[in-house]
Amino acid sequence: MTERVEIFEVGPRDGLQNEPRPIPTMEKVALVDCLSGAGFARIEVASFVSPKWVPQMADSAEVLSRITRAEGVSYAALVPNLKGLERAIEARADEVAVFVSASEGFSRANLNCSVEESFARIAPVVTGARAAGLKVRGYVSCVTDCPFDGPTSPEQVARVAARLADLGCYEVSLGDTIGQARPETLRPMLEAVMGDLPPELLAGHFHDTGGRALDNIVESLEAGIRVFDAAVGGLGGCPYAPGAEGNVATEAVIARLAELGVETGLDAEIVAQAAGMARDMRSREE
Ligand code: HMG
Ligand code: MG
Repeated sequence: MTERVEIFEVGPRDGLQNEPRPIPTMEKVALVDCLSGAGFARIEVASFVSPKWVPQMADSAEVLSRITRAEGVSYAALVPNLKGLERAIEARADEVAVFVSASEGFSRANLNCSVEESFARIAPVVTGARAAGLKVRGYVSCVTDCPFDGPTSPEQVARVAARLADLGCYEVSLGDTIGQARPETLRPMLEAVMGDLPPELLAGHFHDTGGRALDNIVESLEAGIRVFDAAVGGLGGCPYAPGAEGNVATEAVIARLAELGVETGLDAEIVAQAAGMARDMRSREE
């Protein structure tokens, strides 16, 4: 296989959002600036959610204003509602991401509304973002397992993913939020989703709680997916998903893909340097 795969770096957002220690803005900026030299086309650096819900991301506008933007890199921000979109536009995010859950339990815990209500909330966000010239990515959470509802039905994931694409999301990232997916549970979900959407519209987003993230990436590759989200240093987790440990580590994904002969175009040394910074940020005591 001499395929090329894109890694979408989510460490500064999905990685850091769950850290209990308030991380100084300039440490976040330094991490993003390091990542900017590694060759990523897209880096998620911010989330304009309620600071009451995720205090760690409260300085997102400042992060976006202080980073040194590298040419050719799209700096992305997660937004839950119109207020988040306004803040993202003001902070000059290059693209935004909306997020919905495939399961009701996690939707309630993470967004304080049902899946149906979350679509009503994000529809104007997608329209507004596109009218402002911003591309919109969509995330589906809990694609195989939900910490509240148990296993997720593949058909429900397929419905939610297709709705995001219908709304105008240019890519739909399928999230194993709590890192419990296994190739055996992933496969039927991917088959169901791909009944509606081609693999070129999809990305894989794996957390590594169960230690199967790399196997799940290989399974997704076989199904045709060529974009994977990852976080340097394996940072991460969602504060509203009990059991959601780190995202799969970017450096581990690069290494596994290299073994398979798959190119990412990333500078492994710079990624290793960023991973070191990320691990320091995580482990430092108050
Ligand atoms: P709510 O409490 O139901 O709604 O939260 P609200 O409208 O009553 O807002 C509460 C307060 O927040 C109000 O302030 C709002 O003004 C303010 P108050 O009047 O009390 O002073 N507020 C905001 N402030 C700044 N920016 C905003 C914003 N919106 C409201 N955008 C809400 C509903 C959606 C806001 C809340 O549930 C929320 O912010 N949730 C986000 C949780 C989150 O960020 N989770 C992690 C990201 S998702 C994830 O990690 C999964 C992913 O990685 C994929 C995967 O792994 O599956 C993407
Ligand atoms: Mg995540």
